[in-house]
Amino acid sequence: MVIGNPKGTIRNGESWLGNRSYGDLPMNLVAGRSGVYAQWNFCRDGGLLRFNARESLWLRNSAGMPSLAMFRFGSGSASLERTSIARLRQGDERDEKLNRPIIVVYGPGHEHLKEILKIMHCPGQVIMARDLHELEEILPMAEIVFGWKVPPHLYGKACHLKWVQSMGAGVDDLIANPDLSPTVMITRIVDQFGPIIAEFVFAELLADVRRLDLARQQQSQKIWKPFAVGSLQGQAIGIAGLGSIGRELVRKARVFDMVVYGLSRSAKPGLVDFGFTPAQWPEFVRSLDYLVLTLPATAETQYVVNRTILRAMKPQAIIINVGRGEILHQGDLVDALHQGEIAGAVLDVFETEPLPPEDALWKLPRVRISPHIAGPSLDEQVARFFVANVLRYLHHEPLQGVVDRERGY
Ligand code: GLV
Repeated sequence: MVIGNPKGTIRNGESWLGNRSYGDLPMNLVAGRSGVYAQWNFCRDGGLLRFNARESLWLRNSAGMPSLAMFRFGSGSASLERTSIARLRQGDERDEKLNRPIIVVYGPGHEHLKEILKIMHCPGQVIMARDLHELEEILPMAEIVFGWKVPPHLYGKACHLKWVQSMGAGVDDLIANPDLSPTVMITRIVDQFGPIIAEFVFAELLADVRRLDLARQQQSQKIWKPFAVGSLQGQAIGIAGLGSIGRELVRKARVFDMVVYGLSRSAKPGLVDFGFTPAQWPEFVRSLDYLVLTLPATAETQYVVNRTILRAMKPQAIIINVGRGEILHQGDLVDALHQGEIAGAVLDVFETEPLPPEDALWKLPRVRISPHIAGPSLDEQVARFFVANVLRYLHHEPLQGVVDRERGY
C-alpha cells in the first residue's frame, strides 16, 4: 500500500503529535479534545484501513471511492483491519458504519450542535462543517443536511442528498434555490418558535405602551418627571398568519386582555374574536392598534402589506413584522410613516438583510429595528426536533414539518 502525504486539518484546540505508524502504516495522529484523530490519504491502489473508531469522516472522489478518511477513536487501543477497495466497491452490507446516513450539519452560531446531537444519540454519521470550506468538501457525501444559512449554490455539490432539515421555520430560500433538486425533501422546524417570538412581540408592545424608552432616557439624565402611560388591555391586535407562531401570539394576547383579530387562509373557528381571510385585508386592518405579521414569504404573500393596506390602517397603529421582509413593501412603509398614515413599526425582518446602512428606515424615529433575532433557533430545541425526525426517517415514517413546495411552507 502506498500512502500519500497526510493532509493536515488540525482543528482549534488540538495539538499535533506528528507522524506515527501502526506497523508499516504511517499516518498523522492528532490529539483532539475528545480523542485521537488518525488521518491519511488513500491511494488508488491502496487498501482501506478500518479502526474500531468512535467516529469517522469519509471523503470520496467523484467516482464515489474513498479518497480521505479521518477516524476518531478513544484513548484505548485501536484495532486495524485491512479491507480491499474491491470489496468496498461491491458495497459491504455488513458494515453498519458505512451504511448509516451521513448527516452534514452546518449553521453559523450553532457550533455546539454536534455535541448536543451526540448527547441526544442522534443516529447516523454526524459531520459538523465548521466553515464553508469544510462544508463544500463534505456536502458531496451528505444524505441529510441539517442546515442554516448554507450558501444556496453549494447545494449543487450535494449529489447524494435526500433530505434537508432547516434549523428555521422559514424555507423560502430553500424552495427558491435552483441548485437544490426538487426531489430532495425539505423539512422545517414547526411548533417551536411561537413562545420565543411571542416574547419578542410582547416585549416590544409593552415597551411601546409603557414608554420604557422615555423612562430610560430620563434616567440617563437623572430626570424625575412622571409621564402618562398606556395599557394593552382592550387594545386591538391583529395577527396575520395563524400557524403555530400566530396561535401562540393569540394565546398571549388574551392573557393581556386584548381584543384579538386574526387573518388566515383557513377559517380557525373560535380561535380569535374576529377572523378574516386574505381577501379581506383592508377590513382586517381597519380597527387594529397593532398589526403583527407572522406570514411566510410566498408568491401569495409578497407585498401583501402595501400602501393600500397601510392607508386602511388607523394613524395610531403600529405594525410589527416578525415574518419575512418580503411581506411588507418597505418603500411604501417609509412613505406611510412620513405621511403619518401609521404611527410606527417594529421590524425584525427586511427585504434585504442585513439592512443596508443607507436605508431610510434606520433614521425614522418611530421605527424599531432588530437584526432578525425574534425567533432564534435554540440549539437544544432544534436538535430535539431533528433527532426525532431522523428516527422517523430511518423507520420510513412521515417526517414532521415537511414542506409543500407549491404552497411555499
Ligand atoms: C427565522 O427567520 C426562521 O425562519 O426560523
